[in-house]
Amino acid sequence: MRYFILLIAFVFLNSCASPTQSITSPDGKVRVRIDLNKGGLHYAIDFQGKPVVLPSALGFKFAEQPDLLGPFTLQKAERRTKDETWQPVWDFDSKIRNHFNELRLILQEKLEPRRHFNVTFRVYNDGVGFRYEFPKQDAMDTVNIISEETQFHLPGGMAWWIPGSYESYEFLYRHTPLAKIDSANTPVTIELKTGPVISIHEAALYDYAGMTLTHAARDTALFKSKLVPWPDGIKVKTKAPFKTPWRVVMIGARAGDLMESHLIQNLNEPNKIKDTSWIHPVKYVGIWWGMHIGKWTWYYGPKHGATTERTRRYIDFASKHHLDGVLVEGWNKGWETWLKGENVQDYLTPYPDFDLNFLAKYARDKGVYLIGHHETGGNVPAYEAQMDAAFALYERLGIPAVKTGYAGRMHPKGMHHHGQWMVHHYQKVVEVAARHHIMIDAHEPIKDTGISRTWPNFLAREGARGMEYNAWSDGNPPEHTLILPFTRFLSGPMDYTPGIFNLKFDPTGKHRVYTTLAKQLAYYVTLYSPFQMAADLIQNYEHQPAFKFIEDVPVNWDETRVLKAKIGDYLTVARRNGKNWYVGSTTDELARHWKIALDFLKPGQSYKAIIFTDAINTDWVNNPTAIEIGMYKATADDSLCVMLSPSGGQAVEFIAVPENKVKTLQAISRFNQAQKAKIKPFATVKVYGQK
Ligand code: NOJ
Ligand code: CA
Repeated sequence: MRYFILLIAFVFLNSCASPTQSITSPDGKVRVRIDLNKGGLHYAIDFQGKPVVLPSALGFKFAEQPDLLGPFTLQKAERRTKDETWQPVWDFDSKIRNHFNELRLILQEKLEPRRHFNVTFRVYNDGVGFRYEFPKQDAMDTVNIISEETQFHLPGGMAWWIPGSYESYEFLYRHTPLAKIDSANTPVTIELKTGPVISIHEAALYDYAGMTLTHAARDTALFKSKLVPWPDGIKVKTKAPFKTPWRVVMIGARAGDLMESHLIQNLNEPNKIKDTSWIHPVKYVGIWWGMHIGKWTWYYGPKHGATTERTRRYIDFASKHHLDGVLVEGWNKGWETWLKGENVQDYLTPYPDFDLNFLAKYARDKGVYLIGHHETGGNVPAYEAQMDAAFALYERLGIPAVKTGYAGRMHPKGMHHHGQWMVHHYQKVVEVAARHHIMIDAHEPIKDTGISRTWPNFLAREGARGMEYNAWSDGNPPEHTLILPFTRFLSGPMDYTPGIFNLKFDPTGKHRVYTTLAKQLAYYVTLYSPFQMAADLIQNYEHQPAFKFIEDVPVNWDETRVLKAKIGDYLTVARRNGKNWYVGSTTDELARHWKIALDFLKPGQSYKAIIFTDAINTDWVNNPTAIEIGMYKATADDSLCVMLSPSGGQAVEFIAVPENKVKTLQAISRFNQAQKAKIKPFATVKVYGQK
């Protein structure tokens, strides 16, 4: 009898796998369970035994086909493990480990039309990715997705989120209980009440609509995917075979773990560009802030910003200060039409006061280059018609990077910035640019989903409320840049455009930048981007000792460690470039101080530490530009005191130097005696306010 039961079980297992499956991360801490018993297909995730995602349904609704919600048969469960280390062309770490356990579920509907599909789960130490794949099959040809029924049933917690707009990510973050989110754009970051910190996002978004999250049931923590529609309401128009982007749950024991994670890139394909010698990180100035503060105009006229003379001065400045490039906005004809209905620009013809050929060569002769600009204003067909020629022009002139923009209402009408049609367009731009050896920085983009692993010429994007909002809106409050690293930046680098020195630029007092100067410097470490601007007017950098930090700070890193972090409150990040380390600390509206052990420095190595920090009398409201700059000797045995004014910061360079050289270092600290007693950057001295 027992033999008979065993035999039956054997036959059953052979024809279909067990309807419950489970898989863990390589370190065993993250576990995914899949369950087909409840009719449909459900998954659940836990981390160190604590629930992260409660049982949540998977499925689809289609326009011309029956819903795909179950019941399903699990025909086969395939497992594999991968452990590789890859080297990005640029990043905040120079070696990235891609280590996961994979479970691929081969599924079929139990009932007619008995469609086939697969769901693949990849479980990493820092989170989970899963995607649907539809093979070619008779029962499915043309596919119009009405709704992707992917659920995220969360155990409750506090979320950092922006609204689920189809056009823009340029909002201030909200911090509410999960149940108060009605719709959100990803990444949405959540401090779960069970302990872990998670972020929900997507990876490898190609030929599909962007995913927002919406409530599946009001006032609960049950969310589902809501895709951005076409004008006719269909979300995705495709054909089998096809696969969806990865749905991703990043998981960390602490907030800093999310910042250190490469999960989103790991879920993308390896680099497709064979020769990457023309791709490199960029530090730049530009004809830009002047337009935002109303001093200059993009369009031709008496206040025109992009004149030959001004651009020449910017090139001279970039060359003198060892920067890579000069962004020029407003050089081409057509800006009169921007934000005035239909944007019609000519991306090939300069305004009469801008000598493009001369300036491109002048820059090259000075060892720098121009950075091009294409503002589509949302008129994508007009841009696509000129795109190839416009990139070819830049390539011919030795202009290796282009900032693109989509500020304005989408044309054709009814299309959305984050829909499938635009996802396809943004991808076309990066591929055409790659053919012309051009790097891209997209403003008003589709969110990053890690595709720069595959297309490393896509250096950076905006896709959040950047510095420009301080120029003309009610501004970015002090905590904004303490939220971005744990939300927007989890998707990839952001062109935030830091480095405003003239923080109270507006004589009327209506607008300003809500930080201290030292915090602006710290951004070069805390806000990672391989396309990093020194955003102020160059005249505000002249004769400013603090500009040395911007000159020195690298835009590419070998290693990154988040040393201290609380979302929305404070942050210290250390990044290594070669032998040198750079440390940036920032705080929200509260003055704070803490100590950082320098044990990440190489033992036995001496460093010259150059510290740029809020002074004792720095006050972001009335005295934001007061900054202390000091030079000290440091080793791994020291600790660093971080003393920050409200909305303040500290930026430190640790330059590896031979021991004998350090001994002769003169302290060039301009701390006065009173400050010296209170602030000593190294903790060998008792720190003011510390118990
Ligand atoms: C919005 C972009 O974010 C900004 O950087 C740019 O200057 C304007 N659009 C004009 O293109
Ligand atoms: Ca913008």
